[in-house]
Amino acid sequence: MISIKALVAESTGLTSIPPSYTFTRSPDDEPVSDDPEDSIPIVDFSLLTSGTPDQRSKTIDQLGKACQDWGFFRVINHGVPESLMKAMTDACGEFFNLTEEEKREYGGKYLLDPIRCGTSFNTSVDKVLFWRDFLRIVVHPQFHSPTKPPAFREISLEYTKRTRELSKGLLKGISMSLGLGDTYIENALNLESGLQILITNLYPPCPEPELAMGLPPHSDHGLLTLLIQNGISGLQVQHQSKWVNVNSTPNAFVVNIGDQMEIMSNGKYKSAVHRAFVNEKATRMSIAAFFTPSLDTIVSPAPELVHRETNGPAYTGIKYQDYMQLHLSNQLDGKTSLDHL
Ligand code: SIN
Ligand code: FE2
Repeated sequence: MISIKALVAESTGLTSIPPSYTFTRSPDDEPVSDDPEDSIPIVDFSLLTSGTPDQRSKTIDQLGKACQDWGFFRVINHGVPESLMKAMTDACGEFFNLTEEEKREYGGKYLLDPIRCGTSFNTSVDKVLFWRDFLRIVVHPQFHSPTKPPAFREISLEYTKRTRELSKGLLKGISMSLGLGDTYIENALNLESGLQILITNLYPPCPEPELAMGLPPHSDHGLLTLLIQNGISGLQVQHQSKWVNVNSTPNAFVVNIGDQMEIMSNGKYKSAVHRAFVNEKATRMSIAAFFTPSLDTIVSPAPELVHRETNGPAYTGIKYQDYMQLHLSNQLDGKTSLDHL
């Protein structure tokens, strides 16, 4: 399967996209919100870790509200050096600049291979292909890295550690916002042996952006995702049945909660549906750090939360590995994997 990058590079003067990449969509079905992007909640991470007790408890409340109302928020003062975020973005860009032959080495036979690069989502089930190339690397519990470009390993190792710290702090806060002990999520979902996956997405310029899709509406199958972008817009999040643009805020992380958080919180916190558009002029890139429970954990609603509800459990438990398989072998489509539970 040819990468989009190569497709664009090989077809000088490409004015239309191949039919296999053409989506039919009606703009009427997809209202874009009038809400300014500023309405997306912002969480100041430094107040969680080193604020006064009062600042800390206010921030935990904000975090809970963001998870409940949006499933989506931005994090500032997060402690990950700006220079590292930039170095990681550059290293990913350099990876995509390798030759097709060099990248083919990481083509990956299986969906769960620790290093896999490809195009679209899962080309064996995607009905229409997405205008997206990706590199997906499992970086925890065992760290993996492509050997090229040479600096990739060192930068991604450091990035893995720093984003892991950030995710732990956020998960502690989220756990407390649910009225559970601060380590409840970490322990109940066995995060230490869970996966951390680095996924970088490349969306080359597209001659007919209104007909193509970078990534269609979907929720993430894991627990928590921390995302950075290269300054080019394209991400939208669904909020109250409308789409809100999430432009690239320099030096902030965009965070969304995934399906496992929705299950664990007994549906109180909703995994956010989001999508990525492409554009005609600029190459867009995003880098996601994806955190999941351990593969053999049966994720179910926290008993304490179920106990407080009158309606009982909103979801039956499912082994995370089974959920992930289901998600990866389904077409990427809204929250359909969660609807199966
Ligand atoms: C994603 O949903 O994994 C990435 C979205 C983006 O490219 O911003
Ligand atoms: Fe996503």
